[in-house]
Amino acid sequence: MDTAVQVQEKNRTTSMTEEILSGLQKSQKTLPSKYFYDKRGSELFEHICDLDEYYLTRTELEIMCNNISEIHRALGEKIQLVELGSGSSKKTRLLLDEIPNLKVYVPVDISGKFLRETVDELKSEFPHIDIEPVGADYTRPFDLPCPPDKVRTVAYFPGSTIGNFTKEKAADFLQQVSNLVGQNGALLIGFDLIKSEDVLLAAYNDSQGVTAAFNKNILTHINRKLRADFDVDQFEHRAIFNRDKSRIEMHLISLKDQLVHVEDEAFNFKQGESIHTENSHKYSQESFRAIADPYFTPVATWIDSDRKFCIQLLESNSE
Ligand code: AVI
Repeated sequence: MDTAVQVQEKNRTTSMTEEILSGLQKSQKTLPSKYFYDKRGSELFEHICDLDEYYLTRTELEIMCNNISEIHRALGEKIQLVELGSGSSKKTRLLLDEIPNLKVYVPVDISGKFLRETVDELKSEFPHIDIEPVGADYTRPFDLPCPPDKVRTVAYFPGSTIGNFTKEKAADFLQQVSNLVGQNGALLIGFDLIKSEDVLLAAYNDSQGVTAAFNKNILTHINRKLRADFDVDQFEHRAIFNRDKSRIEMHLISLKDQLVHVEDEAFNFKQGESIHTENSHKYSQESFRAIADPYFTPVATWIDSDRKFCIQLLESNSE
């Protein structure tokens, strides 16, 4: 099987070069965390998900497994399930297994290659399900195969990826998803809960150094894709908890004064200066409700017994 996946043209975004240069021009240098995920970065992230310290993935899966019948009932029958981002995980398979009466499953991903591979696998595992991949940046408006006024549309956004958006971007994203699923539509979302700082810091500073390798890989990725000369060994991984913003921040710290070239620009780094590479916001049910409120109303909540992670079903406020 070889599924053709068209990337929706109107949905295209700014180029990698523009994004990288504009981040490095800021007084607090930044790099967009989406550039962690080249082939090596995706493998490292999968490794992170299996680490003892990184509780997020296994806790979310445990909540799904323990509550799958109830989740199924809350989603309803004959729905259009739209997964925003990678659709290959165990959580997706659990949902596809549990909802045989799904009308259509729509995995949405910017990487056409990734989608093709995933969809071919899923089609052979779930031949009875209509799988309609969409190649698009899911943070921007895109078209669905089945208009949401014809079928109840449920967006699925697991993994606490919402935590990687700033609060403002998260609110914009929720508004866009609410419009996408329309009246009578819903969102099934996973987000990480506020907890002890020790547990949080351990999850992003694992003892095997996998998260450090994941963070530094963004520089290798940029060196490969652009004309850039980051000396990866001259940067060090650091993860801190920013209590005011309720988020883990990942940084890369320059180990010496150095000059780095990207395309035709040169960037000066002082020893100890950081590049901010990722935010991972932690929410309470109340703080999540505060950003989702104008666009969605929570209808069901599932939490693990240690209260680490939360899965919520929210109905769209779209009219
Ligand atoms: C993908 N995202 C939810 C992960 C997180 O926990 O914010 C990415 C990650 N960064 C470091 N470890 C994992």
